[in-house]
Amino acid sequence: MSLTETTKYYEVEPTVPVAPYLGGKIRLAKKIITRINTIEHTAYCEPFVGMGGVFFRRNMRPKAEFINDYNGEVVNLFRILREHYPQFMEVLKFQISSRREFERMVKIAPNTLTDLQRAARFLYLQKTSFGGRVSGQSFGVTKERGSRFDITKIAPILEDVYERLSGVTIENLSFEKFIPRYDKSTTLFYIDPPYYTNENDYGRDLFRRSDFEVLNELLKGLKGRFILSLNDRPEVREIFKSFNFEEVSLKYSLAKVTTKTVGELIISN
Ligand SMILES: C[S@@+](CC[C@H](N)C(=O)[O-])C[C@H]1O[C@@H](n2cnc3c(N)ncnc32)[C@H](O)[C@@H]1O
Repeated sequence: MSLTETTKYYEVEPTVPVAPYLGGKIRLAKKIITRINTIEHTAYCEPFVGMGGVFFRRNMRPKAEFINDYNGEVVNLFRILREHYPQFMEVLKFQISSRREFERMVKIAPNTLTDLQRAARFLYLQKTSFGGRVSGQSFGVTKERGSRFDITKIAPILEDVYERLSGVTIENLSFEKFIPRYDKSTTLFYIDPPYYTNENDYGRDLFRRSDFEVLNELLKGLKGRFILSLNDRPEVREIFKSFNFEEVSLKYSLAKVTTKTVGELIISN
């Protein structure tokens, strides 16, 4: 089925995530978005939105959009961008990229900060840390590149994201609460959980290996449609065996010297 005129879609200007994110779907985004655009839906939902590597790159949206992440820092950043964009820019204006500032920020407990300061801290650490890591961050420098936190480059992206988030519902739930809450026959979910074996990459106890089984049970009873991306492993194929698989191989450069091919699965109903 392709997008028809019976369902209303709005064209949107694709944008990019505000910061790098481990597991961000840069390479897979085009393929997934092409698929999204062939499935008729009146509501679009992402239970594991992260920095929105797919969400922000889409060129079409239905009227209703719902994004979610269990990580409170991610959700706070999006809420601040949507509700307090000008004040946020004031807080960021004098921020510069330095190892000392990075180390100071890492040590601050987010719950001692205001929501605006928390969002600034999270964005700063995501931009300046190595590899878009979310936990165990270290200060990232690249000899051939300018500094990672350059407000003149970040500001236009933040503005695009702020505009894009208008009208989007942002939730901070675990996936097993979020998915049933927004499921209906015309909902489309794009589901991007942590990779199998890398469950702790986003913090301990956010997602357990047994949650893949929980997710599978939820998807078996789903009224709507879904697209799920995961690393291609025998365990993943076994758990989600009642659905359709598409294999995708992606080449990743390691330190620009060698390339590694990683198998991904796009699973759908
Ligand atoms: C692979 S990342 C998503 C990356 C995202 N698609 C992007 O492009 O940036 C997985 C995300 O799931 C979130 N997460 C982990 N456990 C969760 C849970 N139980 N419920 C909802 N979100 C969870 C993590 O905080 C993380 O942001």
